[in-house]
Parts: sequence; structure tokens; C-alpha cells
Amino acid sequence: MLEILNTGAYVLGKYNKALEQDVAVLHGVDHGIAVNSGTDALRIMLQAAGIGPGDEVITTAFTFVATVEVILQLGATPVFVDIEPVTYQIDPNLIEGAITPRTKAIMPVHLFGQLCPMAHIQEIAKNHNLIILEDAAQAILSHQDGVMAGNFGIAAGLSFYVTKNLGAAGDGGMILTNDAEYADRCKSLRVHGMGRQRYYYDDIGYTSRMAELQAAVLHHKVSKLETWTAARQQVATRYSEALAGSSVIPPAILEGNNHTWHQYTVRSSMRDHLQAFLKEREIDSMIYYPVPIHFHDPYRHLANGPGSLPVTEQVSLEVLSLPVHQHMPDDHVSWVIESVLAFGKVHA
Ligand SMILES: Cc1ncc(COP(=O)(O)O)c(C=O)c1O
Repeated sequence: MLEILNTGAYVLGKYNKALEQDVAVLHGVDHGIAVNSGTDALRIMLQAAGIGPGDEVITTAFTFVATVEVILQLGATPVFVDIEPVTYQIDPNLIEGAITPRTKAIMPVHLFGQLCPMAHIQEIAKNHNLIILEDAAQAILSHQDGVMAGNFGIAAGLSFYVTKNLGAAGDGGMILTNDAEYADRCKSLRVHGMGRQRYYYDDIGYTSRMAELQAAVLHHKVSKLETWTAARQQVATRYSEALAGSSVIPPAILEGNNHTWHQYTVRSSMRDHLQAFLKEREIDSMIYYPVPIHFHDPYRHLANGPGSLPVTEQVSLEVLSLPVHQHMPDDHVSWVIESVLAFGKVHA
């Protein structure tokens, strides 16, 4: 960081390049394009794929708002399909029913650190001539049958927001793709749509360079990501073994998936009581996401109110994410397990 401050190479410098290379290699893709947030990664990824007014993009309402917001900002329409109740992922069996002549893309959200059922989604996309754009903001290093995000469609978008498995000291994001021409378009869009010649523009773009200081932080941390991911997996394995058959429903892992546990999210019909009980024992837990997207004012018009996405709506009332972190001491994990089990006994 001192080197960057001393040289004044604050944007698109050697650490940006190194990070793009690091992450592309980790994900087995040809190109990584660093941008200044996961939201911008998605926005640029969609625009570079030609998504715009009149297009429909199939996705879910059980996600962080950024997924949906960027589709609308490009003048396209998000079309929600419901999720599966144990993996919380888009239900592939419902996708075909949502396809119309305007559908251009499917945007699966690899929620909580595991990939959506991609073989099924790819088959639908192929049969209906749709493109796949992956929201992989929560899924760095996650793979399915050995294949990582960025390899299932045109592109994937990662987030390096502070709390992510690979978190910057601020904001950051990256687009992953195997298409060289598309990668060039993304690179141009992150600097106002500028072409190869300075101050000549091919597109209407953004200011979305990743700060070099963030790239340096991420470049340093990325070398530890595999070790950290394994540590998260150990915590999750302990939870899943101990909580099987308890009063909560542990998260299911889709066949073939290597789950990287951005969140460890259980379901409980007494979720709010459970959260309060844990709080009394000094255990923080979080609700991702308490209100489905189609229940917020700016997005209500995208669905037909309560009952339109029944699984999403039910799951939103029951999910609770337990602490999971690479540096979590064993006795903390034991205390969480003990406490969740104790809650089950009290409320049996
Ligand atoms: C599923 C999902 N999509 C998109 C984003 C947006 O990423 P960022 O916060 O880096 O803009 C996030 C980040 O929280 C996310 O979880």
C-alpha cells in the first residue's frame, strides 16, 4: 500500500492486473475484469451482453437487491421464479413457465456459496436460445462437478465487498468470462465506454475502475482463500453433523456442489425466538433476506403481491444465518451448536 501511495499509481495498475490474473486462474476462465463493486460487475456484465429495454431476465426474488436493481436500471425487466426450499436456489423446474418471446437471459444467483443446478439451467438456456449471466457475488471458488462460476454462460460477476469470502477493505468486484471480445467490451464500459483511443467512446459506460489499494489488499488475501475456504467448510461440516435431526433445518448441498459457505443458513419455524435466544448467549446471527424483493415498494410491480412466490415468502420468514468464518475458534462453533440444540430442547 505504501508502494502505491509513493508511486501514485492509484487505478488500473499492476495489482489490478495481478488480481485479475489470480482470480481468472482460480476460476479457470480466460479473463477477469476488475471493477469497483459486485453491483457494477453485474451491471456491466448485463450491458456488455446487450441486455436493454424490452428484454426480460429470469432470476429470483430471494437475493440481494443488486441482482434485480441492475436489470431495471438497464431498462430490462426482471422476471421472478420461485426457489427450492432447502437450497434456497432458483427452482429450475419453474424456469420454462416464465419464458416469453421477450426473455433474453437467465441470471441464476449462486446464493450463500453454492452454485445453482447449472446443467439443468444450461439445458433450458440452450433449448430456448437464452444467455446465462451468473450472479456469483457470493460464490467465489464454489464449483459444481469441478466447474467454477464464469464457465456456465457468457459471464459471472463476483463481489469483493468487505464481508465476502474474499473481502476488500471497501468495495470491489470482478467480471469473469471466456470470451475475449466480450471482455474488451467490459473493460471499455468500466471507463466510460472508451475505446482503444483515449477520449474516443464506443459506448455509454461508467466510472468503475477498482482502486489499486483495494486490488493490493485482495491480491494479498487471495493467496489464502483456499485455506480460508477449507476452514469455513470445517465449521459448516460441524454444524451440519450436529444439527441434523434438531429443531432447525440445516442447509442442503446440491449434488456435485463444492459449497464455500458464504453463509450457513438454517430454517426454523421459530426463527425470531431462536435469534433472540442466541443473542442472549452473545451469538450474533443474521437474516438474509428478511423481505423478498417483490415486497419492497420499488419492486412490487414485478409480482402479484403476497402468494405469488410462496416458497420465497415462506423461507424469508424462517431463515437464519449462523456465524461462519475462517477464523472462528472451535469452542465458538461448539457454543453455537450447544445453543441451537438447547433452544430445541426448551421449545420441544
Ligand atoms: C447476490 C449478490 N449480488 C450482488 C451483490 C452486489 O455486490 P456489491 O455489494 O459488491 O456491490 C451482492 C453483494 O452483497 C450479492 O450478495
